[in-house]
Amino acid sequence: MEETLIYAHRGSKGTHPENTLIAFEHAIHLGVDGIELDVHLSKDGHLIVIHDETVDRTTNGTGYIRDLTLTEIKRLDAGSWFSTEYEGEQVPTLSEVLELMKNTTLYLNIEIKADIIPYENIEEKILQAIRDSDFDEKRIIISSFNHYSVAKFKKLAPNIETAILFMEILLDPWEYAKTVGATSLHVYEPVAFTETAHEALKNNFPVRTFTVNNKNHMRALMEQNISAIMTDYPKEALTIRSELKKKETGT
Ligand code: G3P
Ligand code: MG
Repeated sequence: MEETLIYAHRGSKGTHPENTLIAFEHAIHLGVDGIELDVHLSKDGHLIVIHDETVDRTTNGTGYIRDLTLTEIKRLDAGSWFSTEYEGEQVPTLSEVLELMKNTTLYLNIEIKADIIPYENIEEKILQAIRDSDFDEKRIIISSFNHYSVAKFKKLAPNIETAILFMEILLDPWEYAKTVGATSLHVYEPVAFTETAHEALKNNFPVRTFTVNNKNHMRALMEQNISAIMTDYPKEALTIRSELKKKETGT
């Protein structure tokens, strides 16, 4: 069994303003295996890295991403709401993050936030951004709660890994995932402790789980060889993984 990989959720969301370049830089510096981020589309068709449909919670502005232009979004402060230490941090575009990460060995999990607002052709735009950046496609994982979006992306780029996101304890979800064209499961943390996850792993279907912030849960999931955990506290997860490794090798 391979070791559990550690993905920084929205960057290092617990210690830095989520989905900002400084949060991603910090995660890279820590030595995580991957980064998860969320993508929406602006009024003028740019791929915006942000979690919510609006800028209200994570910037000093207001409004829906789909009603704002990139220039308007770039004027916003995405750091101060978290701490004055991060004042002036901007909302990044997907291309900026691809540029930041392309010379690393990290995986990048791009979550397409098309489950509330259907953004026209967001899948084509994401693929174009990946190709334009020359990012190694083997290090990309596309996921969404909108499985139509996952299926569409898979058709556009059959060689890029795709995952279905879900919150429930499903029966044989890997069989369903195959009909979508997905090759891995991204599950809500409680599901990772159930038969759904155990059976998927037995069927050689990678299972990555979000959002694991409790240290005991991190340890338990690593002990059951879950494929990856996504956490807001990647530093803690890295420490726990190396402690477990030491215990295993008796060093
Ligand atoms: O992609 C995993 C996780 O990020 C899904 O939930 O709401 O944090 O984007 P959310
Ligand atoms: Mg997400």
